[in-house]
Amino acid sequence: MKFPRACVRHGLAILGTMALIVCGAMNDARAATHDGTAHIDVSGRVFRLDAAKVTYAFGVNEKGQLQSIYWGSRLAPNDPLPTPVAPPGRDAIDGVVNVIPQEYTGWGEGLYYEPDLKVTFPDGNRDLVLHYVSNSVHDNVLSIVMKDIERAIVVTLQYEIDPGTGIVRRSAVVENQTATPVIVEQASAGTWILPRSHDYTLRYLAGRWAGENDIYERPVQPGKTVLESRRGSTGMQNEPWFAIRRNDANETHGQVWFGALAWSGSWQIAIEQDQAEQVRVTGGFNPFDFGYKLAPGASLQTPSFYAGLTSGGMGEASRLMHRLELTRILPQAPHPRARPVLYNSWEATGFDVNEAGQIALAERAASIGVERFVMDDGWFGARNNDKAGLGDWTVNPQKFPHGLKPLIDRVHALGMDFGIWVEPEMVNPDSDLYRAHPDWVLNMTGRPRTLGRNQMVLNLARPDVRAYVFHALDKLLSENQIAFIKWDYNRSWSEPGWPAVPPDQQKNVYVDFVRNVYGILEELRHKHPNVEIESCSSGGGRVDLGIMHLTDEVWPSDNTDAYDRLRIQDGFTQAHTPGVMMAWVTDSPSSMNGRSMSLEYRFLSAMQGSLGVGANLTKWTAQDMATAKRLIADYKAIRETVQHGDLYRLVSPDNGSEHSATESVSPDKAHAVLFAFLHSSTEGYPYPTVRLQGLDPDARYRLRVLQGTLAERTPTVASGAYWMNVGIDILMRGDFQGTAITFDRE
Ligand code: GLA
Repeated sequence: MKFPRACVRHGLAILGTMALIVCGAMNDARAATHDGTAHIDVSGRVFRLDAAKVTYAFGVNEKGQLQSIYWGSRLAPNDPLPTPVAPPGRDAIDGVVNVIPQEYTGWGEGLYYEPDLKVTFPDGNRDLVLHYVSNSVHDNVLSIVMKDIERAIVVTLQYEIDPGTGIVRRSAVVENQTATPVIVEQASAGTWILPRSHDYTLRYLAGRWAGENDIYERPVQPGKTVLESRRGSTGMQNEPWFAIRRNDANETHGQVWFGALAWSGSWQIAIEQDQAEQVRVTGGFNPFDFGYKLAPGASLQTPSFYAGLTSGGMGEASRLMHRLELTRILPQAPHPRARPVLYNSWEATGFDVNEAGQIALAERAASIGVERFVMDDGWFGARNNDKAGLGDWTVNPQKFPHGLKPLIDRVHALGMDFGIWVEPEMVNPDSDLYRAHPDWVLNMTGRPRTLGRNQMVLNLARPDVRAYVFHALDKLLSENQIAFIKWDYNRSWSEPGWPAVPPDQQKNVYVDFVRNVYGILEELRHKHPNVEIESCSSGGGRVDLGIMHLTDEVWPSDNTDAYDRLRIQDGFTQAHTPGVMMAWVTDSPSSMNGRSMSLEYRFLSAMQGSLGVGANLTKWTAQDMATAKRLIADYKAIRETVQHGDLYRLVSPDNGSEHSATESVSPDKAHAVLFAFLHSSTEGYPYPTVRLQGLDPDARYRLRVLQGTLAERTPTVASGAYWMNVGIDILMRGDFQGTAITFDRE
């Protein structure tokens, strides 16, 4: 992923030489104000990146190490930056290397904190000390070359700053220029150094199946917090995202540093406070069981690690991440197409799909305004339950005797496009594929093959498996008019062996597998440019900036209970934009909790993201259908604001109170949408006044109630200042009530 071109002030040589200005339009550093351009300054011993409200600076100290200087609010262009000088060691028992805030460390010379790179050489040497060599700037990427003090292990660090958000992307390329193979045992994209302080709280997301994205906080104290996945994929147990806020920062105010890894394999983010109160955040491949064999001349690129900062609290930190995803990360960035309203058959039919049943659902879906009809699991091979068929990507002839065409034609005739479910990286032992290729799965010779959901993981690192999976999907897309695939992934790894290659190469599977998944997605997108893709993994098990670069939307959770979703969505939007957050309206009582909720409440909960319907529509009454039709039409009118606007989490459902509210504001502040929810009335208290945020105080906005009732005295037109300060009183009583209101500038 590349940020757009920006002006560059480029030093021909470092260490004492003045910068040469190579960008005509930006030949005065003072021109680089808060103007949406990025600016890289390479002068003297210091490298400086400026964009939006951020300045990021580091330099080469007298030892040749790359030392962090500053990462904070934007400075004036000609502000002096401190010369990087290694601080003195404090104690004989700790080598000085441990107190230097380095950007990228090899594990060597007595380093006790998380290293960025650890390498074992064939002669047993494991000491690695990286020093600065050179720099260059191409296509707005600042590259810093470092090399071990003695051996030809060369690391190229990449830095890029996003003009719109000031978020910096870092990545590293490790190259083995020695004559023998080496084993890379740990490799990160880089280490972020926060300003020295003991005034920090870490926020992170953790969860489980049907309970993704719980928000946790803990003080940053001496010691280390490790967020990780060891399971071969992103996982839902920790999300590859962090935020570190000042202790007094909250949703609307205060400094927050935040970041996310773009990697869909085993990953690690380590947050560490050292004895000098230095907070270091190191992220990349998970070092557990890692051992990438790097042949002479070969190189290994780490995942990208994005990080930014704000003084506007957690809410603004999230909005910056959302903006980055919409304008830089997603395949259709910077202008992703609005998500169509989709229907999915899974909760209605389970595996029991067939032509007549799907057509009946499609007809009902079309009549309420659905734009995309998606057939879920069960259409292929011998797939009557989850015990068979995965791997055999041919249409089941009993369920679809004439192939998929009659269904797809009918869906098109109804004015919708057609989508289909696949789980390409998996195989059931009861499948033709496994019977033909039992050696294609991850396994360790002679050891049991542990099943998860009755299936095994195909070893995508193998070229033949990669070719098979690509061919199966390419054929499916070439032979049928399919506009969308829901790409699922429903188990984690076990016995991650690759017996077909020599033992010292087997651990390359952690990288090569994921690269091949990315490669297949890239190739499919290239060959079928109109096909959109959703990333799903038993719910939200594969949501990260790496997969989001190649998929258009994600499935946050298999839990579609509308009340639970409020909390899951609140956690999800800490890190990710509602523009990719699929949310279905499903049946009541909820299959997850047995809870009953009105159709209106279920719709409003789902309308906070990208709306879908996953209910058994054949059972809906005429009144249900009419309500659905009305709310889907309303949703289409607001979706641009919801999906691509700025999200304000007015009241978190996680706050232990009985109510919650979100507001989305279009980037030009012309439109806003408010969703407010009441869990349960208690003791006759009125619903608290809701005060909006992010409007233009001087503009006048007309209010329209999509759902719910307002206090009688509520004006229909008032200034942004009025809605933000006086606020709005909503009449809501009872249990599981919802209100939706739009505000449009006059
Ligand atoms: C996973 C997904 C569900 C559904 C099923 C089908 O659980 O998360 O949405 O597609 O697989 O088997």
